[in-house]
Amino acid sequence: MTPPVIDVHEVSKTYHVTDDIVVRALDRVSLQIARGEYVAIMGTSGSGKSTLMHILGCLDAPTSGTYRLDGHVVQDIAEDDLADLRNRRIGFVFQSFNLVPRTTALANVELPLAYAGISRPLRRRRALAALDAVGMADRVGHLPSELSGGQQQRVAVARALVTNPSLILADEPTGNLDSRSTDEVLAMFERLNREGRTVVLITHEQDVAERARRVIRLGDGHVLEDRLAAGVAA
Ligand SMILES: Nc1ncnc2c1ncn2[C@@H]1O[C@H](COP(=O)(O)OP(=O)(O)OP(=O)(O)O)[C@@H](O)[C@H]1O
Ligand SMILES: [Mg+2]
Repeated sequence: MTPPVIDVHEVSKTYHVTDDIVVRALDRVSLQIARGEYVAIMGTSGSGKSTLMHILGCLDAPTSGTYRLDGHVVQDIAEDDLADLRNRRIGFVFQSFNLVPRTTALANVELPLAYAGISRPLRRRRALAALDAVGMADRVGHLPSELSGGQQQRVAVARALVTNPSLILADEPTGNLDSRSTDEVLAMFERLNREGRTVVLITHEQDVAERARRVIRLGDGHVLEDRLAAGVAA
């Protein structure tokens, strides 16, 4: 039997803000996500969504508990291997776009391919195709500061997709988009999911969440609810 892509077991994350202020951002969270699922994570501001996403993406380690990615305990993976795994397998769209400033949209999207050691001409071709897919073909030479918020978010989505990752983690990918761009970005995630990729998407918007197949609601570091999306027949 193949293990779930994501297997979070009793994971807690605490932040020590000062000696006597401790924030428990995640409190013994357990959840599993199988290959090919499309999951929306909801919850009020501060409920632990981004913290969970950072752990799922191996950008941060739990304070306690176990996270298995593809059956491997992440804490046991050497840092170099982890960086490699992140780069090859996971596409991130961050809540704040995290584009490299003073660097064109095209170069931003090429960046993960450069890390992966892909040749310059192939890099260019794939980055242009990814930017075209998010409707940004006519802005490839623009710097992030020369793009609107929605356009920057679309470049960030292109950057997440360009490596063809099997797991896509997106933190509020449509938070800054108008309804038309939201539709375009969601259509893209749906297509990627149909092609077999696992998609985990954080959103505040109920209608965005219901377009996934499964909805997990966090509250105060706990899983409050884990159900099928409204449009999915049980
Ligand atoms: N580096 C940090 N140091 C201290 N506390 C933190 C840190 N990062 C997050 N927190 C706290 O952990 C809790 C969860 O934060 P998190 O960013 O996961 O929330 P969120 O659900 O993503 O919220 P939002 O919807 O506003 O993005 C919050 O109370 C936050 O203040
Ligand atoms: Mg957040």
